[in-house]
Amino acid sequence: MRALVVDHSAPAHLTLTDVPDPIPAPGEALVRVEAVSLNYGEVSDAADPKAPEGTVIGWDAAGTVVRAAADGTSPAAGTRVVTVGVTGWAQLRAVPAARLGVVPDDADLGAVSTVPVAGLTALHVLRRMGQLMGRRVMVTGASGGVGRYAVQLAARAGAEVVAISRNPSRADELRTLGAHQVHTDPAAVEQPVFGVLDNVGGRHLVDAFNAMEAHGTLVNVGRSSGADSVLPPEALLAAGGRHDRSIRTFHLYGEPAADFSADLRWLAAEVAAGRLDPGITWRGPWTRYAEAAQTLLDGRLHGKAVLDIA
Ligand SMILES: NC(=O)c1ccc[n+]([C@@H]2O[C@H](COP(=O)([O-])OP(=O)(O)OC[C@H]3O[C@@H](n4cnc5c(N)ncnc54)[C@H](OP(=O)(O)O)[C@@H]3O)[C@@H](O)[C@H]2O)c1
Repeated sequence: MRALVVDHSAPAHLTLTDVPDPIPAPGEALVRVEAVSLNYGEVSDAADPKAPEGTVIGWDAAGTVVRAAADGTSPAAGTRVVTVGVTGWAQLRAVPAARLGVVPDDADLGAVSTVPVAGLTALHVLRRMGQLMGRRVMVTGASGGVGRYAVQLAARAGAEVVAISRNPSRADELRTLGAHQVHTDPAAVEQPVFGVLDNVGGRHLVDAFNAMEAHGTLVNVGRSSGADSVLPPEALLAAGGRHDRSIRTFHLYGEPAADFSADLRWLAAEVAAGRLDPGITWRGPWTRYAEAAQTLLDGRLHGKAVLDIA
């Protein structure tokens, strides 16, 4: 099969080449991949000199089951699915049933390919905050892949959404997605928030923590700023009585046995029905991988990039 593999001499550190087909384990379905979406994490991982040459990477992929899992746990051959894993940028992917969700027949596979990492991360982090109805929730890096889904899902859950985006030109779009307020800087938020989904780290994390009310929770998802988060002592002590605030870390693959199938199916159905906007701002054939990856790495994407697999 053809696959995008790590090649440190190639543009964006990836090259399209022939590799052996995957051999599914008894609990894995074999999926013919038709579309994949890019995440900041895997694109930057590929560019890391420590990434082994020849590795097939890629987390999000959507396609059609061509061979059901031998143990009978997966959907049947011919079922359209969206999948999450680590080897998706290839014509074939072997996936356990817990890492695939059935997709509506009429869904655009490119659109649903955006939900695995970005959508699942937003959904699971917001769930960790508890009941959001009537509560103020801040999302930093709001115009990114995770951020856009988080804004929409928090608004759907009844939260008053405070979106943080460096770029004021994203404000109208973020309001359309459900944001009630849009700021360029968490330090500008005057009324305390109940929860924070932080994609950015660094100064954003510190200022978002300072914006939290008593008992609030900040969940750090990423570090798009590339900066360290240094909480000065006064941030912890002089909080005007707003005690019992917490910072939690999150990793989507933190629970290896997690079953994502129901959440993948729900997110894909919401995208297919037009109730969640996948925010695709770049789409093209996978031969144009380097162009898409560079747009993402340069911070010019403001949404999701999708590659159609030939
Ligand atoms: N822990 C996990 O399981 C997990 C899962 C998914 C993603 N992640 C991580 O979470 C982060 C977000 O992922 P993503 O896929 O949404 O990335 P993305 O699409 O690149 O979006 C990140 C957003 O952060 C903002 N940003 C970027 N650089 C910044 C800077 N220097 N200062 C302030 N804001 C900046 C930008 O939004 P604005 O222009 O709107 O400010 C950008 O759109 C990444 O670090 C990723 O690696 C972690």
